[in-house]
Amino acid sequence: MNFDQTLIDTLIEEAQNSRKYRDLDIPRATLLDILTHESQRSNSRKELEDKFRKSLHNIIAPYLEDINYPVETVALKNLHDQNPSEADLKSWCKKRMSLHASSRERLPYLDTFYQTITAAIGTPNTILDLACALDPLGLPWISLSQSTRFLAYDIHKPRLLFLQTFFNSFYPNASAIHQDILTDIPTQSADCAFFFKEAHRLEKRRPGGNRVLFEGLDVKWLVVSLPAKDLAGHHSLQDYHSTLIQKTIQGKPWHLTTSLAGDELLFFIQKHD
Ligand SMILES: C[S@@+](CC[C@H](N)C(=O)[O-])C[C@H]1O[C@@H](n2cnc3c(N)ncnc32)[C@H](O)[C@@H]1O
Repeated sequence: MNFDQTLIDTLIEEAQNSRKYRDLDIPRATLLDILTHESQRSNSRKELEDKFRKSLHNIIAPYLEDINYPVETVALKNLHDQNPSEADLKSWCKKRMSLHASSRERLPYLDTFYQTITAAIGTPNTILDLACALDPLGLPWISLSQSTRFLAYDIHKPRLLFLQTFFNSFYPNASAIHQDILTDIPTQSADCAFFFKEAHRLEKRRPGGNRVLFEGLDVKWLVVSLPAKDLAGHHSLQDYHSTLIQKTIQGKPWHLTTSLAGDELLFFIQKHD
């Protein structure tokens, strides 16, 4: 159903000013995209409002961890002033990664995770980290040259401001970018894009969205990770998630190899030589 633009603007404003989301500064493009999509599936204002609330919750809420970013940003500046050793920096990063579900699960196999990636794709000079959350705190575990460009994308502004301070302190060639990677697919050409633990959720937001994203990225390698087990750790998701990736690239002249690192399935998709 077609809804009046005034209603769409009102719902966007309400979400932007709501207690739940106002500090996050979610891009307007994200909110508009969800509303446009849900409008096509709604027959009344009430239905649109319900679907919008639910969809936004599913995208944002499961990963709203209890991190006070302004406090952590000050802590980061203090750490930088102490000129930490590599071991101290790693230990600082591990502590923060343990506060976010996706990166916490990766802590037991961080070394293996990044070694598996560089063994498969070599050492990249430019990396896009899509829907990054706190992944970039894993940078101390990747052997990269000082000149490597690292561009981290997310829609959560306070997290990005924190990450930009981390980059300014320790990785001056890295940038944190506030951008919805589905509505505004990054145009920067790169050796590889990391897309960790989000493809299954993106597909829920927009069926077929991963294919559009993968097609649009100007990268040689796409490195996608997905959980090998369900959250409780009882059921294998290997077949389910492998099928998702195979369907996403079906009919494309791209080369796919897979690997397992800890509890994460890794898909290496080579788009070109
Ligand atoms: C499951 S976590 C990502 C996990 C992270 N890549 C890792 O492996 O540790 C989801 C993150 O993706 C971000 N996100 C979700 N949809 C996004 C989109 N369309 N564009 C950019 N960031 C997005 C969320 O804000 C959140 O920080």
